Amino acid sequence: MSNILDGKVIVVTGASSGIGRAIAIRAAEHGAKVVIISDVTEIPREGGEPTANVIKDLGVTARFVRTDVSKRADNDTLLTAADEFGGADVFVANAGITVRTDGADVPEEDYRRLMSVNLDGVLFGAQSAARQMKSRGKAGSIILMASMGGIAGAGITLAYSTSKGGVVLMAKSLADALGPDGIRVNAIAPGTIDTVLLRTSPGIAEASEGFRQRTPLRRLGTPSEIGDAVAYLGSDLSSYVSGHVLVVDGGLLAVI
Ligand SMILES: NC(=O)c1ccc[n+]([C@@H]2O[C@H](COP(=O)([O-])OP(=O)(O)OC[C@H]3O[C@@H](n4cnc5c(N)ncnc54)[C@H](O)[C@@H]3O)[C@@H](O)[C@H]2O)c1
Repeated sequence: MSNILDGKVIVVTGASSGIGRAIAIRAAEHGAKVVIISDVTEIPREGGEPTANVIKDLGVTARFVRTDVSKRADNDTLLTAADEFGGADVFVANAGITVRTDGADVPEEDYRRLMSVNLDGVLFGAQSAARQMKSRGKAGSIILMASMGGIAGAGITLAYSTSKGGVVLMAKSLADALGPDGIRVNAIAPGTIDTVLLRTSPGIAEASEGFRQRTPLRRLGTPSEIGDAVAYLGSDLSSYVSGHVLVVDGGLLAVI
């Protein structure tokens, strides 16, 4: 495909399924040396071989590390897995969830569960990655998965949008905090991407046909298209890009 990630060690959370899986596979196809896949389970939600097996079949070193990103210690353990390869060059905080009860009346328990993965999990992962990158003197790249729902709000995804809006400003703030160490931090805001999460989230699933019709490109995005955006932000091609939110939505947010 390309060699823009040539020799890089990349760690991706939520990489068993959907977008994270495509980020991991695409990274291998773009030349990454090692891909570390992290998730609560190794089983892809959409079915098929575990991500690590697919990547090994491409001739690239892959490891699966069971991780609950909402637990700080799990994130440290995850980054430790990159030590034997010289540490992570690219860290992607991709794991994220929706809750069936989202909306203005979202119950406290579901709200806290969502925040623990979508906000705490992203921060803890970025902190662990930054610590390792700093200790190894690496000019690393940290990429946080936001959403178009973190840029424009929606009543049906009140808690989700709140979390993703937080991710957007977390990326900008981390870019400021880590830039002096040469570490770049960016966010990606996908539009409607065809994954099990999209298809099984009430409200979002129903709204997705309307989104498709309003999208200038008139189709949903594929997980691989987010994988290619990650490859760019993880590569040296984006060496002066930090604190940026890269919208990958077929043009949806550009139109009224
Ligand atoms: N699909 C879309 O249209 C879309 C749009 C915008 C943003 N996103 C974001 O992209 C990311 C990936 O979404 P997806 O559509 O691929 O979803 P998905 O459900 O297909 O994959 C998410 C993965 O994260 C894992 N995960 C969940 N909780 C975890 C935890 N506590 N620790 C570790 N892993 C955990 C799941 O097991 C799953 O494998 C999410 O952050 C999501 O919010 C998706």
